[in-house]
Amino acid sequence: MYTLGNNIRMHLFGKSHDAHVGCILDNIPRGMRISADEIRNEMSLRKPKDGIGTPRTEDDHVEILSGLKDGAADGSPIRMIIANKNVDSSKYKEIVNIPRPGHADLPAMVKWKDHDIKGGGQFSGRLTAPIVAAGSIAKQMLSPMNIKVAAFTRSVGSVSDEMERDMEDALASRDHATRACSPELDDRIRGEIISASKDGDSVGGVVECIVTGLPTGFGGIWFDSLDAVISKAVFGIPAVKGIEFGGGFALAKMRGSESNDQYFIDNDSVKAMSNNMGGIVGGMSNGMPLVFRVAFKPTPSISKEQRSVDLSSMKETVISVKGRHDPCIVPRAVSVVEAVTALVLADVSVSEAI
Ligand SMILES: Cc1cc2nc3c(=O)[nH]c(=O)nc-3n(C[C@H](O)[C@H](O)[C@H](O)COP(=O)(O)O)c2cc1C
Repeated sequence: MYTLGNNIRMHLFGKSHDAHVGCILDNIPRGMRISADEIRNEMSLRKPKDGIGTPRTEDDHVEILSGLKDGAADGSPIRMIIANKNVDSSKYKEIVNIPRPGHADLPAMVKWKDHDIKGGGQFSGRLTAPIVAAGSIAKQMLSPMNIKVAAFTRSVGSVSDEMERDMEDALASRDHATRACSPELDDRIRGEIISASKDGDSVGGVVECIVTGLPTGFGGIWFDSLDAVISKAVFGIPAVKGIEFGGGFALAKMRGSESNDQYFIDNDSVKAMSNNMGGIVGGMSNGMPLVFRVAFKPTPSISKEQRSVDLSSMKETVISVKGRHDPCIVPRAVSVVEAVTALVLADVSVSEAI
């Protein structure tokens, strides 16, 4: 199993074409009420949307096998499974020995001679379904602490949202299939994805995540710093290639006088005049919203021909990946970024005892 967290721990398991994928969520406080409706809502946001996601449709019903009594956590591990019903392995027969460029196939095939690439195996985005279910429970745990987590699509391909965005905007993105903040951007991003898909290609993009309600001082230091633990979890999401907090890489070009978030007093509390640090200094929250952006690469499986090798004959060849794939990962990854962030914050909140 693949494990995230120290106190609130999520253990993930399954493969794309197994009977099911799932997770075990450990140490959710005994007696905490868990809303099945909220889990369902989060699951529907991760589902592929018409024309811009994989044609593989799953009902994504989350079956809770144990850990709940009368709608509340009973203190034992919460075991959840989600059935893989719409499985089609036929398109993988031709490429069992030909690693897809950009996918996990090459290292996995070399490392494990019996590696099964069907549906991406254990590397599949399908495993993000139980992450989103667990993330929903983590969000429900954070809610009484007034900690909110929401993300949105900042860019896809050449289409970029240039506006400054806040929690309200991020929540509004839930009304749009691409998870863009406005209907106009939703249209343009949809166009960008469809255009790549028509070319037998794919596009990447950036997800931005905002967290409000973290008290000043929330988080650890050094290797437990908030940015370190969030980054570790975010890099566990397939297809993530970069993360930046606040001003991120742009800060490297500034002077300290520009990048420092200067302080002022607002109704007896200390506030910062800007948020270049993305809400984190010294590994802890400075009371400003936590803001970070995650770069997703274009989906590796594309039908456009690309060069690869046949590992059985050790000859060069070309590959055109058939089957059902997301032409862009970003719209579905938004809820996954939210989920891992909520899991990390719920985990840290236990040691913070807030
Ligand atoms: C929500 C989600 C959906 C994904 N869908 C696909 C897909 O349809 N086809 C594909 O080739 N990769 C897809 N991926 C990406 C691969 O799983 C990933 O690129 C691959 O495992 C290699 O890992 P890496 O990109 O982290 O190196 C998806 C990832 C996520 C998070």
